[in-house]
Amino acid sequence: MASTTAATPAPTVPAIRARRRADGAEPLVMVTAYDAPGARMVADSGADMILVGDSLAMVVLGYDDTLQVTVDDMAHHTAAVARGLSTWKPAREGARRPLVVGDLPWLSYHLGPIDAVQNAAALVRAGAQAVKLEGGAKRVTVIEAIVDAEIPVMGHLGLTPQSVHAMGGFKVQGKETQAALALVQDAKRLEAAGCFALVLEGVPDQVASLVTRSVGIPTIGIGAGAGCDGQVLVFHDLLGLEDRMAPKFVRRYASLRHDAVDALSAFADDVRSGAFPSEAETYHLTDDVAEELRLYA
Ligand code: KIV
Repeated sequence: MASTTAATPAPTVPAIRARRRADGAEPLVMVTAYDAPGARMVADSGADMILVGDSLAMVVLGYDDTLQVTVDDMAHHTAAVARGLSTWKPAREGARRPLVVGDLPWLSYHLGPIDAVQNAAALVRAGAQAVKLEGGAKRVTVIEAIVDAEIPVMGHLGLTPQSVHAMGGFKVQGKETQAALALVQDAKRLEAAGCFALVLEGVPDQVASLVTRSVGIPTIGIGAGAGCDGQVLVFHDLLGLEDRMAPKFVRRYASLRHDAVDALSAFADDVRSGAFPSEAETYHLTDDVAEELRLYA
């Protein structure tokens, strides 16, 4: 159903910050997107936030980890998402413009606050309303600097993919008591530094629930159980566009890769058999012009 009604405005950062389930709020929904059509689909789904994640590296650009993408890559894709939303018209009931969060890639905030603020600003200028970065207490100085520059920051704790080598792989974090308590302390430090929300990735559900109860900002889980204030999934995982790996925490709501390959094969078959294009898919000259052209044949 195409609609001409105005899009519901994107939720503001303060509105997201207030979305705590403990206070009776509805769970937050965040989905990644990396381009204009993806952004418009997420907006039509009614999700609260789009994360232009550095998972871009793995699900779109073909790398094995997220360490390969740069600020320029992230800005390029954030701009595509923002352009998609700027021309978007709601196509169904419940559709809404999502808040856009740009992911700061590896090494864009590790070299000091000035660098971090400049890189965060590049994502804001590309169209993000907030940025996300990974890590705990040791990120407090850069988070404070970015927040000081009036750029809202979402934290990311637990299995932080930019630390894949330091962690020794993509492994569930916080499984032992001390590690779980360290996550709680990190979450409190990020809240105090000014983060408006926290992604909790790859942690046992009891630990995610403990973190969620210990802070006053919403937690958004991915592989962190049902006790968070919201959930995020990667677009390509959720839709079955990426089906090479199936992490335990992914629920596939469609099999788009399978459907796409079927459609592409049908096209190839039709071209080879001559069934495509048909008359209906073909432009024709007027009879007069066709007749004139015949003289030149
Ligand atoms: O880059 C990303 O997609 C993410 C999500 C997994 C939270 O950081």
